[in-house]
Amino acid sequence: MAEKQNALPRHIGIIMDGNGRWAAQRALPRSAGHREGAKAVKRTLEAASQLGIAYLTLYAFSTENWSRPPEEIQTLMDLLEKTLDEYQKSANKKDWRVLISGERDRLPAAIVAKMDALVRATAENKGLTVNLALNYGARQEIAHAVNRLIKEGLQTVTPQDISLRLYQPQIPDPELIIRTSGEERLSNFLLWQAAYSEFYFTPVLWPDFNAEELQKALEDYRARKRRFGGV
Ligand code: IPE
Ligand code: IPE
Ligand code: MG
Repeated sequence: MAEKQNALPRHIGIIMDGNGRWAAQRALPRSAGHREGAKAVKRTLEAASQLGIAYLTLYAFSTENWSRPPEEIQTLMDLLEKTLDEYQKSANKKDWRVLISGERDRLPAAIVAKMDALVRATAENKGLTVNLALNYGARQEIAHAVNRLIKEGLQTVTPQDISLRLYQPQIPDPELIIRTSGEERLSNFLLWQAAYSEFYFTPVLWPDFNAEELQKALEDYRARKRRFGGV
């Protein structure tokens, strides 16, 4: 009898790691790795969209990434701004809906304005939902949910009360989380939502990620036995 296979995940989270090492291998500055990484983002969005994935959360900048040198942060913010501009231009051709998860403080005002404009421009789109984790930390997200519960005056809370007050409560928990570059850790990504996620770690560096690598992750996921505490 054929083994039962998992259906396509509805939601995939990706920890896009390894830009710096990709550049170092080529004796290039880290900024060159981030530029190539931005191209991999585009390829991955196209691939996920073609496959019919409903939600993709991309870890683009963590709350801990502020500890990097100012020049590197500037490169990342410049690339982000350029990407937001491009997506704004193609917003309605692509049918992608953009959401942002993260805190707005510390982000440059121009970027926050562009993020808001892109979220508004794509709000009615029905295709792939791209959730950009920007200035994102999962502990901060959980604290944000708890602070909302305190303001609402709840005395006791259920897990669902917390889930409903995360940054994007309408997005289902990710069935699959992918991390590139060989690191095997969450680095403050989706701690709450990952309770039953499957993890896929690949040594491929993020700038080398593409449709084929996404397919490999999906094939691996398909064969996993998800038990959710049952037998
Ligand atoms: C991922 O690549 C990009 C961000 C974290 C913004 P890194 O910049 O972390 O690359 P490595 O880990 O140094 O190779
Ligand atoms: C995680 O990568 C954050 C993003 C991909 C945005 P890092 O490179 O910052 O993670 P650590 O420092 O290796 O845990
Ligand atoms: Mg890294």
